[in-house]
Amino acid sequence: MVKSIQDTTTLHNGVKMPWVGLGVYKAEEGEEVIRAVKAAISAGYRSIDTASLYQNEEGVGKAIKECGVPREELFITTKVWNTDQGYDSTLTAFEESRKKLDLDYVDLYLVHWPVKEKYKETWRALEKLYKDGKVKAIGVSNFQIHHLEDIMADCEIKPMVNQVECHPQLSQKELLAFCKENDIQLEAWRPLLKGEILNDPVLTKIAEQHQKSVAQVTLRWHLQNGIVVIPKSVNENRIKENGALFDFELSPDEMRQIDALNINKRNGQDPDNFKF
Ligand SMILES: NC(=O)c1ccc[n+]([C@@H]2O[C@H](COP(=O)([O-])OP(=O)(O)OC[C@H]3O[C@@H](n4cnc5c(N)ncnc54)[C@H](OP(=O)(O)O)[C@@H]3O)[C@@H](O)[C@H]2O)c1
Repeated sequence: MVKSIQDTTTLHNGVKMPWVGLGVYKAEEGEEVIRAVKAAISAGYRSIDTASLYQNEEGVGKAIKECGVPREELFITTKVWNTDQGYDSTLTAFEESRKKLDLDYVDLYLVHWPVKEKYKETWRALEKLYKDGKVKAIGVSNFQIHHLEDIMADCEIKPMVNQVECHPQLSQKELLAFCKENDIQLEAWRPLLKGEILNDPVLTKIAEQHQKSVAQVTLRWHLQNGIVVIPKSVNENRIKENGALFDFELSPDEMRQIDALNINKRNGQDPDNFKF
């Protein structure tokens, strides 16, 4: 089991990816994102999840430069946005992200959404970036089982990660099992349901029993299911709280109680029918 915030899962190409990272969606470019990333790194986080869509790659890059932790100890993810999908446009978009981040390489580059008719070409571009050594690992986001099957049918390199919406109301058990069978690491976005599950009575009771917060119990549930988490916060105390997950363990019965909260309810868009 995961024992510290710097523990890693090993992707199918041997690259080590931290189990816990900081998400920075909606963290404002400039001071806000810089402070959040630095606070996370001081609290022991080594992984940061951004995207070109978030428009804060420059701030993330600045915080990385100034944080005092060597680049090679950090794990930086960014993503190609939907309007940039396609082979050449993905290569161009990657270069723009890399420059904004001011990095020689990115640790994980993801296809943000499975844009129909485009994602296979986009994937070929990611394979090239990987073979050229510009990214250490490549993966997808918001891919359902059928998208993964489609890509794996004729790819050269199989995705190493699939980052999807996942939380107690959308536990993604079928997708998780498929990913485990195929050696693809599942990663949860919106792991705290944007804070909307923090008053749930089942989670609250379990949290009280462990003298932990509901956020900590929820994140621990993800980790014990074998899922990487990237909770977002721009608040130093909550950043610390979300990284303090390693001095307690949920029992099999508590895991089952949280699993039972699943209602297959999405908070974000449906990967089979999205509007951007
Ligand atoms: N691939 C994709 O399509 C996709 C889509 C969405 C998100 N993501 C990634 O996943 C990351 C996380 O998802 P998310 O940002 O949507 O939602 P989230 O992490 O589930 O929730 C973030 C919200 O919860 C609050 N919060 C965080 N920790 C808390 C705590 N301990 N107690 C109380 N409130 C807390 C935050 O507020 P404060 O900041 O004020 O603390 C923020 O409003 C994103 O930042 C992004 O990196 C990816």
